[in-house]
Amino acid sequence: MKNTIATFQEMKEKGEKITMLTAYDYSTAKLMDECGINGILIGDSLGMVMMGYEDTLAVTMEDMIHHTACVARGAKNTLVVADMPFMSYQTGVRDAVINAGRLMKEGRANCVKLEGGVTVCEQIRAITDASIPVMAHIGMTPQSVNAFGGFKVQGKSDEAAKKILEDALKIEEAGAFAVVLECVPAKLATLISERLTIPTIGIGAGAGCDGQILVYQDALAMYGDFTPKFVKKFADVGALMRQGVAEYIKETKEGTFPAPEHTFKIDDEVIEKLY
Ligand code: KIV
Repeated sequence: MKNTIATFQEMKEKGEKITMLTAYDYSTAKLMDECGINGILIGDSLGMVMMGYEDTLAVTMEDMIHHTACVARGAKNTLVVADMPFMSYQTGVRDAVINAGRLMKEGRANCVKLEGGVTVCEQIRAITDASIPVMAHIGMTPQSVNAFGGFKVQGKSDEAAKKILEDALKIEEAGAFAVVLECVPAKLATLISERLTIPTIGIGAGAGCDGQILVYQDALAMYGDFTPKFVKKFADVGALMRQGVAEYIKETKEGTFPAPEHTFKIDDEVIEKLY
């Protein structure tokens, strides 16, 4: 059965954990969908893990629409969440609604995600009013990396913890259906999850959240550039890929690949006529 925003809400109410991973292409989305993942985020992390940028700021609406459409074709039962890239909603309510609409219409997402708290509540309200569900994202919001002075844990001081709690409450009031809590202390994330009626999805925020999300290349050890402390490597797909590629190179160079079973036959008489 298709996961919807109602499924996410029901899961929170029943205390069932919500599972999410990122994906950026059809075959990975199809595989995750077949595994029964609840939600797939086409994160703007694609700028880093798929496009090789050092942060997410260069990602465009065109990049997001292209990858969202690829994922949407592979995700039959999974909720498809498309990230709104840097400067596609910060510039105002009108831009936010137009760009959220493009991710739904052209990318075929089921909902959008945007970063920020109190400062983007007007955008959350307007997008929601246009019948587009919004997942919010607070704590360490990667689009604000320059304002934070690096990818750092947020919400540790009295003031910062109070601000994140206030952001979470305002986001819920503005109509968001869920919120990602990234890199905030586990006890703060637990408190926010208890206070909110909408689900919290944690990344580096501890087990007290209503669900979890990871960038799949991190979870499967496929991205070696930088691994944050909160990542667990659930499988070493990177090592398997390296082994497979090395084996392909070796067998091709030796001439043992392709073997007869990988080739197509033709009648000898046809070939003889060509000599
Ligand atoms: O872009 C992304 O992948 C994200 C997740 C890390 C939550 O926003």
